[in-house]
Amino acid sequence: MLSEAKLMTIKINLLSMIATFVMLMTTMAVKANPVDGILSDCMACHAVSEPSEMTLDERMKRIGPSLFYAGNKYQAIWLEKWLQNPTRLFPAGVYYGEHTVVTDEGDIVLETDLVTHPKLDQQQAQEVTRALFKLKANSEIVADLEVGEIKKVSQRMGSLNFRKFKGCASCHQDAEGDGGVSGPELYTAFERFQLTYLISYMQNPQAWEPKSLMPNQHLKQKDVEKLVGYLKTLSEDKP
Ligand code: HEC
Ligand code: HEC
Repeated sequence: MLSEAKLMTIKINLLSMIATFVMLMTTMAVKANPVDGILSDCMACHAVSEPSEMTLDERMKRIGPSLFYAGNKYQAIWLEKWLQNPTRLFPAGVYYGEHTVVTDEGDIVLETDLVTHPKLDQQQAQEVTRALFKLKANSEIVADLEVGEIKKVSQRMGSLNFRKFKGCASCHQDAEGDGGVSGPELYTAFERFQLTYLISYMQNPQAWEPKSLMPNQHLKQKDVEKLVGYLKTLSEDKP
């Protein structure tokens, strides 16, 4: 018969063997996925996992846009290209209040304050794109979204709608250097984003991120599709 004490030792030994095994497996899993290392450089400025909760103050201190739903947001072709040759998307930085001075003539952007985005080579861009496409938070928003046919609209009507009727230009540019600076430029939005992201974001920005700085304008899907038609025109009929 084994004594109580011996049995205990055997149990403890077994447990520590299991623990070592689990630890080994986890290290191997991390090693098998070297891309995680690349994404860890991004975490200095971007959220790659969903924060449990974020105060508005924390939101305003953020340096780059959230990436934890990247797989439901970007078009892979655009993403891979942009990472190799990043252009300015937020004319006044991700929280514009940090990079603008308000004057009587309007807001002045402190250009020198803005981040110069790290550039990746082609292979890194491919690997990072693949890793980002595994980040699929908010899938439930786009899962059942039905998208009608997106028809291009005339530049003139589209611009009138975007600027005058819907007021988007107070925060967004629909041409380089033309429009508001508190939101990202939208003249390349149609190439940048998945259609389902564009539509659902315009309908309800807070569904994507509770602390989104874009107000919910309660647009009807038909109106949203018209606006997206304008963004399509902007990207396909470039001068
Ligand atoms: C020093 C801070 C910083 C680091 C590091 C950084 N980024 Fe960014 N990122 C930004 C800023 C700021 C923007 C907004 C770009 C702009 O408008 O100029 C941005 C924009 C982006 C965008 C476009 C986002 C959008 O929705 O418009 C992607 C994609 C992106 N970064 C991916 C990455 C990846 C991947 C890495 C790591 C390899 C990375 N970034 C590292 C600051 C950073
Ligand atoms: C009061 C300013 C404001 C108005 C008005 C506004 N937006 Fe925005 N919008 C923003 C900001 C700021 C963001 C970025 C969200 C964030 O960083 O929290 C954004 C994000 C977006 C995005 C997602 C882009 C991305 O990079 O993820 C789309 C698409 C968009 N807006 C379209 C529109 C359209 C179309 C209109 C007009 C119906 C509009 N917005 C009106 C401020 C505004």
